[in-house]
Amino acid sequence: MSNFENMLSRAFDLIKVYHSDHIARDGLVVEYKDPQTLTDLLQLEINPDGVGYEELFDEIGRYLRFCVHTGNKQFFNQLYAGFNTPAFLGEIFTALTNTSMYTYEVAPVATLMEGVLIRKMCRIVGYPDGEGIFLTGGSNANLIAMLSARNHQFPDIRHNGMSGIGRLTAYISDQSHYSLDTAANLLGVGTDNVVKIKSDRGGRLIPQKLEKAIKTSISNGDKPFFILGTAATTLLGAFDPFDEMADIARTYGVWFHIDGAFGGSLILASSHKHLFDGLARADSFAWNPHKLMNVPLICSTLLLKQRGTLQRNLTDLETDYLFHESESQGYDIGKLSVQCGRRVDSLKLWLAWKFYGDNGYRKRMDNLLKIADYFARRVREDDRLELIAEPQSITICFRYLPADGSDINAFNLQLRDELRMSGKTVVNYGYIGNDVAIRFIAANAETETIDIDRFFDNLFNAAEALSDGRRDCGATL
Ligand SMILES: Cc1ncc(COP(=O)(O)O)c(C=O)c1O
Repeated sequence: MSNFENMLSRAFDLIKVYHSDHIARDGLVVEYKDPQTLTDLLQLEINPDGVGYEELFDEIGRYLRFCVHTGNKQFFNQLYAGFNTPAFLGEIFTALTNTSMYTYEVAPVATLMEGVLIRKMCRIVGYPDGEGIFLTGGSNANLIAMLSARNHQFPDIRHNGMSGIGRLTAYISDQSHYSLDTAANLLGVGTDNVVKIKSDRGGRLIPQKLEKAIKTSISNGDKPFFILGTAATTLLGAFDPFDEMADIARTYGVWFHIDGAFGGSLILASSHKHLFDGLARADSFAWNPHKLMNVPLICSTLLLKQRGTLQRNLTDLETDYLFHESESQGYDIGKLSVQCGRRVDSLKLWLAWKFYGDNGYRKRMDNLLKIADYFARRVREDDRLELIAEPQSITICFRYLPADGSDINAFNLQLRDELRMSGKTVVNYGYIGNDVAIRFIAANAETETIDIDRFFDNLFNAAEALSDGRRDCGATL
């Protein structure tokens, strides 16, 4: 066996062992170490003379040992989870073939695949004349959506900049993702000009407040240019009332973007269609297959209703060293992207969708909704637990009610830390008003009800141990 083949076979052995932990339900999500201990355990410094392959494999072994197993069925911490074998294969072959998406010349197959996926996703969303692009995450999809809105309304900005334009204002809810503030910062809009509209207790934007804010801005001489709706907010999994928001956007001639980075994939489910009412009326939609479609990070798209929008975002291209005249120049999708080098993120999604088919993905989304429903039922039926908000989709925010009169917030913070550090179950939290909420997300489409039962076993065991040990739960953590 050649040296390369030998290394590959060792690498695949490591992959098999790592992967077996996703399947073994008693495997730990993480062997948690604090940063100093972990630094001491790893050999992070790089030597002038390098190392041999033996040492390299030792390093890979250590990397794998201390990684968080996001494919483990007890990983609920983030909005992505799970392990998707066809997509994983796509990732391997993307790295093997290592090319960039700017021209057909260097990425012929991936260019065609990206086109097929974008057209399919546009059809699903309701953009028959749409276009789209794969980009580096939901945050960047939101940034490009805001850029599209700005350049649509003020096309001269491309050449003349923002001076003399006046105050541009964007409208998002108080539950929106933080990437919108960053986008406003990067685009010269300014974070103070992002108006945060109040949401209701369920986390949905209140449309009357949106309209009132726009009217106030107009009467102040401001220039509203961007309204955001979110298809599953980060903390509560709420869907904004898109139809009503689209009415307002149309009345005032403002771009309407929907951030579906998190919940957008639920459009593939057989139920809950009403949550997407009004989507086809939005000007743009961010959809991240790397979240609920369980495709490895990064796999993210921005879809736009009107073909030609993306090209308008860019300055005039004078790059004849890259984009040549040829029979395939109409296929050079680099001309639509603010990136020059761009990774092939389509192959892994294309392989996964090809493998599961539309029906397979529908079942996967249906399962997420079913698991969330089961989870919510278990919370409702247990006196020790309390729902903090009425669930709308796949996110359940709840808390544990300690029987001994401990401070509820402090107890729940400590409970989730105990769980995380035990490595048995990793789940996140956030604040709803002043209340700490443990946030469960059904993101791994292969989760079963026994995984949820195991989650609650781990939670109750940790809670009882905390109560028995009376570990300083009155303290502010
Ligand atoms: C609603 C929403 N939008 C955007 C993002 C950002 O997506 P990404 O992490 O791919 O940048 C997130 C991430 O959690 C999100 O929840």
